[in-house]
Amino acid sequence: MARPRILSGIQPTSDSFHIGNYFGALRQWVSLQDDNDAFYCVVDLHAITVPGDPQVQRERTRVSYAQLLAAGIDPQRATLFVQSDVPAHSQLAWVMMCLTGYGEASRMTQFKDKTAREGAGSASVGLFTYPCLQVADILLYQANAVPVGEDQRQHLELTRDLAERFNHRYGQTFVVPEPYIVKDSAKILDLQDPSAKMSKSVPAGCVFLLDPPKQIAKKLKSAVTDSQTEVRYDPVNKPGVSNLLSILAAATDRTVAQVEEEYGGGMYGPLKVAAAEAVVAVAEPFAERTRGYLADPAELNRLMAEGAVKARQAAQPTLQAAYAALGLQSHAQ
Ligand code: TYM
Repeated sequence: MARPRILSGIQPTSDSFHIGNYFGALRQWVSLQDDNDAFYCVVDLHAITVPGDPQVQRERTRVSYAQLLAAGIDPQRATLFVQSDVPAHSQLAWVMMCLTGYGEASRMTQFKDKTAREGAGSASVGLFTYPCLQVADILLYQANAVPVGEDQRQHLELTRDLAERFNHRYGQTFVVPEPYIVKDSAKILDLQDPSAKMSKSVPAGCVFLLDPPKQIAKKLKSAVTDSQTEVRYDPVNKPGVSNLLSILAAATDRTVAQVEEEYGGGMYGPLKVAAAEAVVAVAEPFAERTRGYLADPAELNRLMAEGAVKARQAAQPTLQAAYAALGLQSHAQ
């Protein structure tokens, strides 16, 4: 029997992934590649929804690819590629835009949050239709499951809705995918403001994996907690402390319950120190491996080219099936 298909993507929008990306998504990407036919992409087309410097963009895509290798994605087992190398993503995205209601797109919370902060006037149409490109990313590979953090749940619901809508209107074409969200680490919170998720756009409360170990430790040790003193896992009343327990659990491959058993009832200080040490123990070798991949640009280029070919081969039949179902015909033969 064919192995289940997995697809996920990550944006190359900063100089380093952060521990939210790593614990919320990338660790699952690595473990899922054993028993699944996995496709993972650096979504550079999503990154251009906001303006940026081309030279920086090029570099960030390479650093992102190197970090995915460093995280343990094995290009022999999984298909690791850059989104813009596969034109079918943009082609199917247009189809998905035509299937999405304007009101439906307007309800996407990521767009609403972003424009609430920065004003809608300066946002691009691409930022508005961003979720439709994500839907195309997933449906092109007939993915059964999509490993992501909690913040992507709404985009996955849209993916399921559009797959069902297309199948209903034009005939069975797409697999309807399931979200794969690991509860304990699905939402890592900002260390300075535990009412918000950790995000690269707020660097003060965000731990970047490629940062110097000292800086990583300092951020964890100065995490905001609360005015009580006793460690207890209670995400509603003690979000800061609960976040540290989640981070320590993820960094040491344990469950939150196991970590709470060890640190519960104790003071905050030892928990912060343990979390800092555990994250540094993950980040330091990760950064070292990333630098190793970046030091061999020819090999990186070779892997990216190989990934592009494999991904194109997998995506093309789905695009053709979708076009045929829509009555779009190739007149070129
Ligand atoms: P992106 O690039 O923002 O994040 C990559 C992955 O990291 C997860 N994540 C988190 N998990 C836990 N806690 C956090 N604080 C945290 N911050 C980020 C995200 O949930 C994500 O899984 N739209 C997507 C990229 C994308 C995609 C796709 C994902 C494009 N096409 C197709 C899946 C399938 C995004 O912006 O992720």
